[in-house]
Amino acid sequence: MELFTTATKEHDEGRQGEAYVSTLKKDPFAKHFYIESYGCAMNFADSEVVASILENNGFGSTRNIEQADLILINTCSIREKAELTVRKRLTEFRKYKQQKPGMLVGILGCMAERLKSKLLEEEKLVDLVVGPDAYRTLPDLIIEAGTGQKAVNVLLSRDETYSDISPVRLDSNGISGFVSIMRGCNNMCSFCVVPFTRGRERSRDAFSIVAECSDLFEKGYKEVTLLGQNVDSYYWNNPETNLQVTFAQLLESVALISPQLRVRFSTSHPKDITDEVLFTMMKYHNICKYIHLPVQSGSTRVLQLMNRTYTREWYLSKVARIKELMPECSISADIIAGFCTETEQDHQDTISIMQQSAYDYCYMYFYSERPGTLAEKRYEDDVPLEIKKRRLQEIVDVQWTLSNESNKKELGKCYEVLIEGNSKKSDAEWMGRTSQNKVVVFPKTNKDNTTPLKKGDYVDIVITHYTKGTLIGAIKNN
Ligand code: SAH
Ligand code: SF4
Ligand code: F3S
Repeated sequence: MELFTTATKEHDEGRQGEAYVSTLKKDPFAKHFYIESYGCAMNFADSEVVASILENNGFGSTRNIEQADLILINTCSIREKAELTVRKRLTEFRKYKQQKPGMLVGILGCMAERLKSKLLEEEKLVDLVVGPDAYRTLPDLIIEAGTGQKAVNVLLSRDETYSDISPVRLDSNGISGFVSIMRGCNNMCSFCVVPFTRGRERSRDAFSIVAECSDLFEKGYKEVTLLGQNVDSYYWNNPETNLQVTFAQLLESVALISPQLRVRFSTSHPKDITDEVLFTMMKYHNICKYIHLPVQSGSTRVLQLMNRTYTREWYLSKVARIKELMPECSISADIIAGFCTETEQDHQDTISIMQQSAYDYCYMYFYSERPGTLAEKRYEDDVPLEIKKRRLQEIVDVQWTLSNESNKKELGKCYEVLIEGNSKKSDAEWMGRTSQNKVVVFPKTNKDNTTPLKKGDYVDIVITHYTKGTLIGAIKNN
């Protein structure tokens, strides 16, 4: 793994554009772009790649939409509601465009990829449509759109990973950063649009990942989250040396950057998570003891229709293995209520798998049929909306109880918390997270603690209370 740390310098050359960028940033006449992101963390990470490409091409970024010459919206197609949110937002952009003739509006991301040039017909104010693998061509597309033509590039790639691009951090707390380690997905879960909007799975150059994480650490970041739709199938083959890197090895290399840098990752697929990954997690204190392990359904029959390629028993055996090796590890999941043909019994199976897995947290949705997916082609979306909603509510209620129980168990325990900033409610309190990804809020001082703490510090906190989604604590007396 030594190899990785020494090789990071090579990639510093990829940052040579930075001096140029900072000159441009000072140019008051530079054109400004405003970017808004929806969807998963990978989309937010992509917006940071887009920002880097634009800044290297003479654009300055702005968070003030009225100042923008170019409005970009990085979109998500995962559920119908996600697309409706974007459509609604587009109507709000109309007024800015009217106020500023020549302003361009571009749609990026998964909706751009799914709907392609159809978006130009449907949304008249849109000038640019750019898919997730075509961001390098944005500068040319902007020039094209500037001449009054509509510009579209939705080509998917088999090898684009933007590995040489050093993302410009947007809306960052300066403490935790996202790092994409792969793109696309080969899994073809029948409900999911991602393989169509993001294309084939490909892994990013391991050296460039370690270099990006080291760079973040040097800039004061204390936490990186390695991102991929299925991180356990990360596999990079160095074409020059034939060095092969698995996800567990990559995780270890990032953990070795510094014990002061926390490492997280998302998402793990239950069919692919290996003991090798779990052993690596156990070996390093700074690899966070938290696994997001989407289950989707607790019924083997439904899982089969979903093409998840594991059974209920397989899933539960993975949960048991995690708990056996790391009893302190927290686990969260994604769940879909009301998938095609789901019966009351299947729904009860989902509820019981939640209880058996004792999730600390869950992301819960009702099934939304997506055009072009295997499920849309093969199965009827036959669970009525009110039943989907009722089942979802039952799932939410069960999770509420589970999260509550999980938080109750924390009372009196002491955790190392990484301070991310002020708490939302009060400047007199810090907000941070435990390794298990639980949010903790605590007063900035206590009577025995005189050393002032700051954002990015690690501090031992004793948990004294809890509310719905938050633990409340106090700095441990030394
Ligand atoms: N790659 C991740 C998930 C990415 S999408 C994985 O394999 O787990 C995030 C979540 O959105 C999914 O886990 C699923 O729970 C949900 N989702 C995806 N497609 C959906 C659909 N058509 N309807 C409702 N929820 C969906
Ligand atoms: Fe979608 Fe399945 Fe791929 Fe996740 S693993 S992105 S749910 S196809
Ligand atoms: Fe949405 Fe695309 Fe992510 S569909 S969830 S933004 S990969």
